[in-house]
Amino acid sequence: MLNRKDLLGLIDATEAEITEILDLAQTFKNRLRTGEKKMTHLQGKTVTILFYENSTRTRTSFEEAAKYLGATVVNIEASTSSVAKGETLVDTGKTLDAQKNDFIIMRHPMGGAPYLLAKTVKAGVLNAGDGINEHPTQALLDMLTMREYFGTLKGLKVAILGDIKHSRVAKSNLFGLKTMGAEVRMYAPETLIPKGIDQLGAKLCKSREEALDGADVVMGLRIQLERQQAGNFPSLGEYAANYGVDEKALSYAKPNAIILHPGPVNRGVELTSGVIDHERSRIEDQVLSGVAVRMAVLALLNEGR
Ligand code: CP
Repeated sequence: MLNRKDLLGLIDATEAEITEILDLAQTFKNRLRTGEKKMTHLQGKTVTILFYENSTRTRTSFEEAAKYLGATVVNIEASTSSVAKGETLVDTGKTLDAQKNDFIIMRHPMGGAPYLLAKTVKAGVLNAGDGINEHPTQALLDMLTMREYFGTLKGLKVAILGDIKHSRVAKSNLFGLKTMGAEVRMYAPETLIPKGIDQLGAKLCKSREEALDGADVVMGLRIQLERQQAGNFPSLGEYAANYGVDEKALSYAKPNAIILHPGPVNRGVELTSGVIDHERSRIEDQVLSGVAVRMAVLALLNEGR
């Protein structure tokens, strides 16, 4: 049971909470592998999915998770709802509360938007990504994928390469992995490293080799061109050559290192096709972890209500 109304970030998640989520998610993942998709944890509950930004993985996996647990699921497209007529987030939240929604899953381009919604509504709010702030369930699914492969997160060396400045995934992973006892290394052009991230516990590396040396996990992050007003590096080709991961760069990591990417991937930029499709790539496994983790978070928040 999670003793909180909402899941807005991992910045304040405890080791006990993360462990409880991952343990239940592993149970759900094992069941999904056998084809079991009919459970009753959320029977009689309504889950609304409110996305103000595009998504493939997060939206579909939350919808699948809620449906597999027996909930009624409502999808709201911001572009075709009254948001497009100027309705505020708070008023949209009040409407969803009046309809007796139990959970609202929200993605929003502005960091902090789910915190505002959570303060306004009685429903539990799950942050499905807010601007460049946090994406807690993505980090949880990344941790589930790592923990299933290595048996533990404690002591793992996780190298994160890519657009860290604009990445909510990097921040949630940093908070979660540090809490669970892993080492988090980061490498990117200086223009894509947010100021102060080392104060939060990230080990900033001076070269790709230093970041990957002896790493257990190699995580590429998407270059988010849509969030960049000005070029932060000369060209995608130069980024790939100097900061991307190809098979030579991968060889600096441990021989059993796994490859992760939250998706969507810019093939040939963050990772080469050879690395994406490598036998140690767990990118597809991350997607299954995503459904299982979202089931676990919904089930545990519901128990706490
Ligand atoms: N990883 C992730 O958030 O993917 P989507 O944008 O497709 O949901």
